[in-house]
Amino acid sequence: MRTNDWYKYMSFYQIWIRSFKDGNGDGIGDLAGVYGKLEYIKSLGVDGIWFSPIYPSPNADFGYDISDYKDIHPDYGTLDDFKKVLNKAHRLGLKVIMDLVINHTSDEHPWFIESRKGKDNPYSDYYIWRDKPNNWESILEGNAWEYDEQRGQYYLHLFAKKQPDLNMDNPKVREEVKSILRFWLDMGVDGFREDVINFISKREGLPDGLPFLPVINGMPHYKDGPHIHEYLGEFRKVCEEYDCFQLGEGPMTTVRSAMNYLTGPTRSLDMMFSFDHMMADCLYTEYVHRPFDLRKYKSALSRWQYALAGKAWNALYIENHDHPRIISRYGSERLRRESGTSLAVSYLFLQGTPFIYQGQEIGMTNIRLKSIDDYVDVSSKTNYHKYNLKDTVERRLKRIHFSSRDSSRTPMQWNSSKYAGFSTHKPWFFVNPNYRRVNVASQEHDADSILNFYRKCLKIRRHSRTLIYGSYKEYFPDDKHIFMYERRLGDICYLVICSFSKFPVRVRIPHEFVGKKAKLVISNYHESSEDGHRIRKAAKAVLSSEVFSNDGMKDAIGKEWFAPYETRVYRFRF
Ligand code: GLC
Ligand code: CA
Repeated sequence: MRTNDWYKYMSFYQIWIRSFKDGNGDGIGDLAGVYGKLEYIKSLGVDGIWFSPIYPSPNADFGYDISDYKDIHPDYGTLDDFKKVLNKAHRLGLKVIMDLVINHTSDEHPWFIESRKGKDNPYSDYYIWRDKPNNWESILEGNAWEYDEQRGQYYLHLFAKKQPDLNMDNPKVREEVKSILRFWLDMGVDGFREDVINFISKREGLPDGLPFLPVINGMPHYKDGPHIHEYLGEFRKVCEEYDCFQLGEGPMTTVRSAMNYLTGPTRSLDMMFSFDHMMADCLYTEYVHRPFDLRKYKSALSRWQYALAGKAWNALYIENHDHPRIISRYGSERLRRESGTSLAVSYLFLQGTPFIYQGQEIGMTNIRLKSIDDYVDVSSKTNYHKYNLKDTVERRLKRIHFSSRDSSRTPMQWNSSKYAGFSTHKPWFFVNPNYRRVNVASQEHDADSILNFYRKCLKIRRHSRTLIYGSYKEYFPDDKHIFMYERRLGDICYLVICSFSKFPVRVRIPHEFVGKKAKLVISNYHESSEDGHRIRKAAKAVLSSEVFSNDGMKDAIGKEWFAPYETRVYRFRF
């Protein structure tokens, strides 16, 4: 039975196992590696782990092409190894959630192998077959239809060619999904992150999409499709028999459509990963780059914060296995520690459950490989070989340096020894050359490290009802350099200020805080720092009450200097 809201106070750590930690010395991350690092994960102050897929998979999309839903990839171990990890995690007080990928399988899944044999076998309607394809494009690999010689028809794949879409309209397929849910829930897992879950019901007749829109032209016909809530309702029923929670990934979801998943009679998810705030430097996908605009980041976050307030619960993240590293995008590699910590504060203290992706907590950054042939992510290959072909090789490669998901999939940097302590063997993929500087061991004992900063933030959040349950309000949404918001509950109010500027800036302080006594609960600069702008007391601060009358700002009269990417969180009692 669902006791319902234990996930609210929690935060989660995401493991992309192939690059997390190699336990048996073959260069590939695995469950033995995870087992040995559970104490580390616990030490961060998180309460749970989300495993990106660890099932058998030909790895056309690194685990998101599943060939057996009820087993473990031999590269990563066995079901028994998984049970050991699960039990130890539980002993440490960590929940474990699995990735549920049911929009598609691998083309090497036995269902597909059967299905492609012909139109009259028990699996023939497990997938979406047509004699004539429509004009949809896939998200990872060009055209969304692939001709299958054996069956003599086309099958739909919204992602890579090796990821045929399941036909969720077939009740037998939905029974299979329920059986997968039960399999893992009976074993004791605590919930699911449900992959591209808003895509699983396609509009009848599969009408053509817009002719000129690349990559997502068919989306209006498969996002939030006609039977989505009915199908998810069926899955929810199974999950409700257990004390588990469900988190949906909702590419391109709007707040409005998300509300149907999160509230009311069609409620089928506890949280949803949205993408809006990940498009502050790109358009729809990282394929189309534009300069980072803080106002886009802020307005996306605020939109979700306001809309869900009192009605639903946010899932907070700024990195995962699908996005390049956030410091390389929204921060500054030169001011890595400063921007990494300011970015951390910008989202960890929002309303919702925070997720931290492996390596984010030490400020890992993008990798820049010499040739497209060095990249392994299918979407990077597509981006390079299919779009903007008139660009020079240099420009195309630059695009990949900016956009590749491979940047978040390089081996975790544990220490400065060979292969970054990830393995004793040459790893399956390139280690970021900055590992000698950027690694867990070197940050472990540095009180000012990004790692220890994450620990402090998570601890502060975990111990504050205001930060977990309080209301949200943003200040100065038009400011190009500062993200400022408050969280308030009863007489306690936190004022969160993050600079996104490479230069010192003067920050306006809202009227009602000016001259009030406040406790500085955390900051990424302190007295001894050499920023040279200001020396101030780390423990207690009284906000400046200087009056500036010449700037025309009615609601802000106090001003404070903020160093590059400085962040401060104040706690007030009113
Ligand atoms: C999700 C996953 C991504 C994968 C895609 C197809 O967006 O996070 O890694 O490529 O779905 O399964
Ligand atoms: Ca291994």
